[in-house]
Amino acid sequence: MPDVDASLWAALHAGVAQVAAEVRRRIDHVVYRAQQTAIRVPLATTRAVASVLVGGESPDPAAVMALRERYEALLARDLANVDEGLYPRSLLYQIPFARYARTLPTFLVDLPGVLRRVRARDHDDLPGDVDLERYPPYFRRNFHWQSDGYLSCRSAELYDLTVELLFAGTADVMRRQVIPPVSRVVGDGARSDVRLLDVACGTGRTLAQIARAHPRLRLYGLDLSPYYLQVARRVLADVPDVSLVADNAERLPFRSGYFDVVTSVFLFHELPRPARRAVLAEMHRVLRPGGLLVIEDSAQLGESGELAFFLGRFAAEFHEPFYRDYVRDDLAAAAADAGLRVESVEPHFVSKVVVARKLAGARGPTSIHRGVAARRRGHARPPRS
Ligand SMILES: C[S@@+](CC[C@H](N)C(=O)[O-])C[C@H]1O[C@@H](n2cnc3c(N)ncnc32)[C@H](O)[C@@H]1O
Repeated sequence: MPDVDASLWAALHAGVAQVAAEVRRRIDHVVYRAQQTAIRVPLATTRAVASVLVGGESPDPAAVMALRERYEALLARDLANVDEGLYPRSLLYQIPFARYARTLPTFLVDLPGVLRRVRARDHDDLPGDVDLERYPPYFRRNFHWQSDGYLSCRSAELYDLTVELLFAGTADVMRRQVIPPVSRVVGDGARSDVRLLDVACGTGRTLAQIARAHPRLRLYGLDLSPYYLQVARRVLADVPDVSLVADNAERLPFRSGYFDVVTSVFLFHELPRPARRAVLAEMHRVLRPGGLLVIEDSAQLGESGELAFFLGRFAAEFHEPFYRDYVRDDLAAAAADAGLRVESVEPHFVSKVVVARKLAGARGPTSIHRGVAARRRGHARPPRS
């Protein structure tokens, strides 16, 4: 009899747990969508009013419909990823509203300067106290007309809020779409010897989310802007095992085969084509054979022709000198050219995620790889042991 009691209790317990999980799932769906709507509606309204005031070409209804569908699909995917255990539900609610509220006054004070720059088409308005020679020419500019380009603490402080406003509350949602391919490979993250490098980690928002999903990974972030890394250090303050380095992704300062996983979010559209190729060659080099590459960047015309109007408008409205070439330079094909085996290409709202593997027993380097390797000699320094 006691055995029957015990199994009855166990069944009851399991039943209650299942119902509780389902209730929590449904609450998440409602609360999360309410949060995203609360961010999107005021921004979409402001943008609509601004475009009436400023004028300009309107998108055709089919393009608007396609954008809406992709927005909805992104939110549905985000919730499904949590349901499938690919990342924790806490990521649905990690937008730092208090920090963004504190940043808003600085953002508003900065806005007239940005508008002046847009009107004057002035993209060389950079801080006078920075040694610009340290940076490649393509980097020395005011991307998106932002104050100081990537070259000041002020720019770094404003960046996360600005991007979240630009993408109507989906910037972090898009960034975390690099996590599912990682989760499928590292499982529950039980191994603590898996090394992941985020190339062009910026202020660390992708790494922070990866760290929540996989706290035992050994994380590395690299970015050319020391100022953005300063903010990243704060964003990642509670992540114990993370190393950040300010350097050029065209010459990664790590030895060959050092990483199990390499990720990168929103870098390639800001690079000229030769730099894109050089970075891919370096990603290939630092991955171990069989290692995983997950790149997320803007959607491209090849898979997202229905967004052509919006992709064109982005290039026209923001200072993004390499974007028009980027949208035609298929990322997956470029990764394959770098010697990687492309496993999937998935659109996520206005972005896409390319998942690829370095082949076990990968073929030797192509001429592109050799060129990069030659330039790298003399630059490489040993990674943290
Ligand atoms: C659009 S931001 C994306 C940052 C971050 N991944 C995110 O999701 O917010 C582009 C980033 O690429 C960095 N970057 C640009 N060129 C680079 C290069 N050659 N090497 C390393 N980082 C670079 C910039 O400093 C900037 O932080």
